Parts: sequence; structure tokens; C-alpha cells
Amino acid sequence: MSDLSNTPTVSIRPVVAGDEPAVAAVIRAAFGQDTEARLVHNLRHCGALELERLAETADGRIVGHVAFSRVTGAGAGHRLQIVCMAPVSVVPDLQRMGVGSALITAALADLRARGEDLVLVLGPPAYFPRFGFDAGLARQVQAPYAGAAFMALALTEAGRRDLPVEVSFATPFEEFE
Ligand SMILES: CC(C)(COP(=O)(O)OP(=O)(O)OC[C@H]1O[C@@H](n2cnc3c(N)ncnc32)[C@H](O)[C@@H]1OP(=O)(O)O)[C@@H](O)C(=O)NCCC(=O)NCCS
Repeated sequence: MSDLSNTPTVSIRPVVAGDEPAVAAVIRAAFGQDTEARLVHNLRHCGALELERLAETADGRIVGHVAFSRVTGAGAGHRLQIVCMAPVSVVPDLQRMGVGSALITAALADLRARGEDLVLVLGPPAYFPRFGFDAGLARQVQAPYAGAAFMALALTEAGRRDLPVEVSFATPFEEFE
């Protein structure tokens, strides 16, 4: 169980110019390598990032980040508005205290308000289903990824209904295929 008694007070807000070095440091610390921070940099600079949110402590430390990029659909679901959630990062000393959940929950609410239909994720099957992500739904999404780690969450009725869909991710993901 997450230790919610120690949950640091964090606020969730958009990323603004000037946050980028601190955000990159959070991603590097979470993954212990540079690959995911480079992915976010490349997504940002090719205009593919649709939404980013960061978690900040009351004393102004940036401790978490999540990025969503545009996914292009073809086939029955070609009209769906689809995004991919990747990566999600929390600094190691504050992991398992609810920061990731706070980030993801707030970001999904913002995506729902914007009318996004479907969110895709590739990640631990032990973590993402708690937000409603479902590997069964993702089986109707034809992508370079498959298996239990590839999950989908419908935010609208169309996102559940207008499937199957064949998807292409933003170019910077090609190094992960
Ligand atoms: C995955 C991550 C974003 C979760 O954020 P967090 O703030 O640590 O998570 P929360 O406190 O909201 O939730 C904790 C729960 O997630 C689970 N969890 C955290 N990381 C997990 C992982 N890699 N695999 C499986 N479960 C994980 C914990 O076991 C805990 O489960 P419980 O509530 O059943 O005990 C964070 O741990 C992280 O940055 N990890 C390294 C980077 C990564 O693997 N990102 C995900 C792939 S994009």
C-alpha cells in the first residue's frame, strides 16, 4: 500500500517556460537514465506534446511530471482524439507516497475536460489499472506495442465504441519500437 500518511503536499500545475531543466532532472532521477528525458525534450520540440503536468511541493521543489502526446488514429476510430501518457516520473525519495496518483488523476480530469476520447499507456500492469486503464480495451488498438503492459482508458463513450483503431505515435517514440 502507498504510505498516504506521509503524502507530501503537492500542487499539480502546467509546465511553463523555465521549468524544463527541473522537469528533465525529475525524469532522469525517476528512470536512472537519460532516455525518457530526451523523449520528452524531442516530443516538446516536434510539437507533439498535448499536455504536461508537474507536481510541486509547497516549498517549490518539482518532484513529479507526466507527459501526454498526440496519437494519430486510422480505421473505424479515425475521428477519435487519442493521446499517449508517457513518461510518468516521480523523484525516487518521494515515490510510493501518492504523488504519481495525484499527477495522473489531475491530468486525466484535464484531458476529459478537453474532450479527449482515449488515453494509451505502456507501463506496469500493477499500477495503471487503478486509474481505469485496461489491457482488454487496448487489444482493440492496433499499435507497435501489445501485451499486458499496453493499456487504454476511454474518457468518452466514443472512445469505447468507435474501435478498433490503428494508431501511430509521435516520431520520437520510434526509438522505443
Ligand atoms: C511509477 C511512478 C510514476 C508511480 O508514482 P508514485 O508516486 O511512486 O506512485 P503512487 O504513490 O501514486 O502509487 C504507489 C503505488 O504504485 C505502485 N507502483 C509504483 N511504481 C510501480 C511500478 N514500477 N510497478 C508496479 N507498481 C508500482 C506501488 O507499489 C504502490 O502500490 P500500492 O498502492 O498498491 O502499494 C513512480 O514510482 C516512478 O516514477 N517510477 C519510476 C519511473 C516509472 O517506472 N514510470 C512508469 C512508466 S512510464
